[in-house]
Amino acid sequence: MSGEEPKLDLDRIVFIGRTFDEYMRMFDLLPEELAGRRILDCPAGACSFTAKANTLGADVTAVDIAYYHTPAKLAQKGLQDIEHAMHQLDKVQDNFVWEYFKSIDGLRKVRIEALTDSTQDRTSVSNRYIPAVLPELPFRDQEFELTLSAHFLFMYGDRLDYDFHMQTLQELMRVTKEEIRIFPLVNLSSQRYEHLDPLIEYMVSQGWTAEEIKVPYEFQKGANHMLRIRRMNAADHSGA
Ligand SMILES: C[S@@+](CC[C@H](N)C(=O)[O-])C[C@H]1O[C@@H](n2cnc3c(N)ncnc32)[C@H](O)[C@@H]1O
Repeated sequence: MSGEEPKLDLDRIVFIGRTFDEYMRMFDLLPEELAGRRILDCPAGACSFTAKANTLGADVTAVDIAYYHTPAKLAQKGLQDIEHAMHQLDKVQDNFVWEYFKSIDGLRKVRIEALTDSTQDRTSVSNRYIPAVLPELPFRDQEFELTLSAHFLFMYGDRLDYDFHMQTLQELMRVTKEEIRIFPLVNLSSQRYEHLDPLIEYMVSQGWTAEEIKVPYEFQKGANHMLRIRRMNAADHSGA
């Protein structure tokens, strides 16, 4: 991990992440799709996918603007953000499906587990956690076979404009050799991202295929599809 970036205000980051199991569901992944593959989680936040997938034989790198801060500072901020999120969720519980988490307490437990696992992993293998500011990434062309991006693009269409989406997608396409999966396709009000079609048209024009796939994960009601984008010449490649 590099040193702290003084210009980056910690208060502006919400440091919450999902677990490995949630990622497997939201990206409809099988364990055999991970082993031996060079994978990028972007942005990864306090997610435990990297920590767990690497123990299963994958080669995962996590990237996030938050990683300019130390693991200890982020762990503290993450706990505060989880408590704040639980308080907010309590008021809008009907907008969510509780089959997986069962209750706010169940959700809190899972979010703390992700934060704890990712903090421990980053503390012990810091070279897998790279600070960067999208839409630019410090990686070589086609460095990763698979790129995963959750709860960032499409979700915050009110804060991240179309140009930012386009530039970030172009950067993900540059660093990805085979495929990119993005979840979800809706904003915080569960409306499909309004500029998704022109972005898909652009990716297809660049020689990629794009499929919207229903996945076995739905917490926010209506957020249950991912976008699977594959380089045409890699579409039939099994990812050895
Ligand atoms: C809602 S979290 C999602 C984390 C994880 N993918 C998940 O699904 O649990 C969004 C993350 O985006 C990061 N982020 C926001 N703007 C960014 C930027 N311009 N470049 C890199 N990361 C950014 C935040 O620090 C935060 O960790």
